[in-house]
Amino acid sequence: MPQASREINRSTVHKLSPVASCRDRGRQSFIFHTKRHLGNIARTTLRSEFDRVSSGQASDGAECDASSAMQALPLFAAWSALNIGSQQQMWRALGDMVNRQIPAMSAAGRELGGAAVNGSLQLDSDLEMPDYFQSTAYHGQPGGYCLDRGEGDWFSGAMQEAGGTLYSRGAGTGDKDSKGQAVVRFIAECCPDVAPDTVVDLGCGYGGQTANYAVAFPDAQTYGVDLGAGLLRYAHLRATALDLPIHFKQACAGRTGFADASVDLVVSNILLHEIPPEMLAAVMRESFRILRPGGLVVHQDVPTQKPDTAAFQQWLSRWQVAHNDEPFWQSFAETSVTNALVDAGFAEQDVFEAYQPQIDGPLIWYMVGARKP
Ligand SMILES: C[S@@+](CC[C@H](N)C(=O)[O-])C[C@H]1O[C@@H](n2cnc3c(N)ncnc32)[C@H](O)[C@@H]1O
Repeated sequence: MPQASREINRSTVHKLSPVASCRDRGRQSFIFHTKRHLGNIARTTLRSEFDRVSSGQASDGAECDASSAMQALPLFAAWSALNIGSQQQMWRALGDMVNRQIPAMSAAGRELGGAAVNGSLQLDSDLEMPDYFQSTAYHGQPGGYCLDRGEGDWFSGAMQEAGGTLYSRGAGTGDKDSKGQAVVRFIAECCPDVAPDTVVDLGCGYGGQTANYAVAFPDAQTYGVDLGAGLLRYAHLRATALDLPIHFKQACAGRTGFADASVDLVVSNILLHEIPPEMLAAVMRESFRILRPGGLVVHQDVPTQKPDTAAFQQWLSRWQVAHNDEPFWQSFAETSVTNALVDAGFAEQDVFEAYQPQIDGPLIWYMVGARKP
């Protein structure tokens, strides 16, 4: 049974956290309010325009297809441009904040590097990066998740943490939310008997959610796996700062290097919508291979797989692909993860999917997984 003795969420501050100056706060507040406002416009005016044009009525009364009619709307053009602009502003503002503090953050990192910890960092300089990973600057993050400027560089991890926090706050998610905690709560409800010795978090990034698993399962060995060296260096220092014994390993989620049947719990947070369908299939096969009999896999992601997803939401998914460096947002929405789990070896009756409300925010998360017999 998972334990939730310590809160680690989007407001968690640690020794490596950049400090926002008054100017940083002003810039970030502008971006936050712009994003909130744009989100409201999407949910209200754009949605009713979409419904109107979908019912076949353009403003001049002619028959039309919804997508092209939306493209022609000045309101949509303005919304789209402002959305793209606010995203660019976000990365510029966060980049300025982090870059300015590199000396202080590096000093904190060196100090943490010398601390006695039970966790570890295992990088693999020979690891071959998938093409999609090298060529995607996910939602505009400068240099993408693969950015690695050499020994000791943790910049991409710091940017992923800062960007994820501001982006999701702009989307309505509160400071107390944590995707990792949502998974932990889900496991407590659906499989209260789970008491893992080994937990593997696939696509762990800066380690924000991995920390939740280490807290919830204090008796387990917790591993975080990701392709990005810069993300993992930061994750290791962050876990050290939070005094959490996590092992971070640079590897592909489709080929982790763990032995067959050696893991009790495999989890991932918002990894699946950021990988192409063939990698998603490989991740499911790998989850099956490394799980012990009786083991559990839970993948958490955006709820675009909901069968009753409104046409408006589907149309917005295409906007993400076209304008927000999310090349797999739509293919994820159209891929059946439950089928992929069955194709990977799980029995159909052991596969589940569910929706879990955020702890602090209006969204629901998609949970999909299986138990290995
Ligand atoms: C949206 S981020 C989520 C990070 C983290 N799980 C979280 O929720 O805070 C997706 C992560 O998946 C990683 N990733 C993408 N493809 C991967 C692969 N094939 N193997 C391992 N990690 C991968 C990226 O580097 C990135 O850190």
